[in-house]
Amino acid sequence: MSEIEVVGQVVGGKAAKILIREKSGEKIELGDLLVVKEKDGLLILQVYDLGYGSQVPQTTRELLAGLKLEGYGAGLTFLEPHLRNYVMAEVKAVARIEGKKIRIPKTLPSFFSSIRHVTKEDLAFLTKPSQPIYLGKVRSGSKTLDVPIHLNGMDVLKHHIVVPATTGRGKSNLVKVMLWSILGQEKFGILVLDPHDEYYGRHQKGLKDHQKAKGNLLYYSSNPPAGANTLVINLKSIKPGHFQGIVMFTNAQRDAIKRYNNLFRDKWIECIVHGKEVENVAPSTIGVLQRKFDNVLGVYEDTSGELQCRSRIFSDTAGSTTTKDIANALEEGKMVVVDTSRLLGQAELLIGSIVVSSIFSRYQRAKSEGKLEKKPVVSVVIEEAPRVLGKEVLESAGDNIYSTVAREGRKFKVGLIAITQLTSLIPRPVLANMNTKIILGNEMALERHAIIDSAAQDLSDDDRTIASLDIGEAIVSSNFTRFAVPIRIPLFEDYIKTNSNEGEREKPVFLG
Ligand SMILES: Nc1ncnc2c1ncn2[C@@H]1O[C@H](COP(=O)(O)OP(=O)(O)OP(=O)(O)O)[C@@H](O)[C@H]1O
Ligand SMILES: [Mg+2]
Repeated sequence: MSEIEVVGQVVGGKAAKILIREKSGEKIELGDLLVVKEKDGLLILQVYDLGYGSQVPQTTRELLAGLKLEGYGAGLTFLEPHLRNYVMAEVKAVARIEGKKIRIPKTLPSFFSSIRHVTKEDLAFLTKPSQPIYLGKVRSGSKTLDVPIHLNGMDVLKHHIVVPATTGRGKSNLVKVMLWSILGQEKFGILVLDPHDEYYGRHQKGLKDHQKAKGNLLYYSSNPPAGANTLVINLKSIKPGHFQGIVMFTNAQRDAIKRYNNLFRDKWIECIVHGKEVENVAPSTIGVLQRKFDNVLGVYEDTSGELQCRSRIFSDTAGSTTTKDIANALEEGKMVVVDTSRLLGQAELLIGSIVVSSIFSRYQRAKSEGKLEKKPVVSVVIEEAPRVLGKEVLESAGDNIYSTVAREGRKFKVGLIAITQLTSLIPRPVLANMNTKIILGNEMALERHAIIDSAAQDLSDDDRTIASLDIGEAIVSSNFTRFAVPIRIPLFEDYIKTNSNEGEREKPVFLG
């Protein structure tokens, strides 16, 4: 190691808090990855706090500052100030590299070891997984290294991914980048419930611009551009169970639904909307159900007795194969983006519920028949995940298909990509089950604590680092990475310019 590269030296501390004195003129940043070269390998360190150190007593420093400020000694200074005043960095060892092996560090670096910044070559131990999902490049503080990071899609998708961050930090951008990198890989079926219509790229760049979009990307919208599919769902595809945990019903309403379903089978909603009389069901109950279906689905009976839908998304005549078509596409390893921007939240969740329930039961069946192995992993991207995974929702309305997937999906190769601003609303057991967290910036301490408490690695020292993450900067904490990896996510629009066929061109690497 040449002298020029040295940025500091180990001067004390203990395992979880190694103290490094910064070399004058260097700037060690929060989150920086540093390296100590040892006889049998490398120790990778990460900076989690910075402070001042000085050989001069505080009172003397204050006096000198006072003299200068009050105009008594413009030229006054310390002898050899760079020797007497300096910055101390608190770091922790995150990984020990011995050849191609990554170990959890159990020893301290030698006393007085020289420290330098990590380089691309130091990270050469990283290898490419067989079904890569691209996340971005390794980041040291705010510097980006030319070392791409991929996760193995097979592992991470069925074990769920959470993307927590304050608004505007780049959650949707990250998921777009990830999806772009796997579009056309038939091992993954991805359902995107898109309440902001931002993934397909109707008016801007989006997944539609991918080379392999044709045949591999389906887009459903109530207002489809040329070549896309119209989002119309036949009321007959909705079963009472699809409302489970999404729309609340009283016992009387539930009983009424059951009776209508038994009597009229898949026409149960239509019959309720038309107010068909049924013995032992109070007209007032039917009145309330009619109002609920009007609120949630936008369906009502007009003055001429016809069934109408305000959003035109639900119909009693059209759209009889829509949800089946979507489920089939997912099972074939395609990506399906459903533009739900014109829908109320509950209707969006209900559409997801129909499709996910269908996939879930198909995959349960496939498993019992020993055919699951060959099926693609299906993952569901859900924005504002606490709508279906929130404590309050689960406590008041009970489990829904999304929470069932969060709990049991991995057994059946079905997973969630849950995007949220409010991690603290999701119960801990659910969060702990979501094995990969891609953590972007968050100013809210409560949210950071919920994330840190459920992370795969000990991030208790990273609170400040997470608070200071800039747009597009993230930490990947996963059961499938050996340490929490700091990354920089590219801006989607830039990424697709250089990676029109991501995955095949660059030489990616993987932590595992
Ligand atoms: N990796 C990135 N690099 C540079 N700029 C980015 C990056 N990610 C996001 N941005 C910028 O930040 C803006 C907001 O990003 P994005 O919509 O992904 O945030 P979000 O977290 O999904 O926000 P919301 O909570 O509102 O959904 C983008 O329009 C883009 O300009
Ligand atoms: Mg977003």
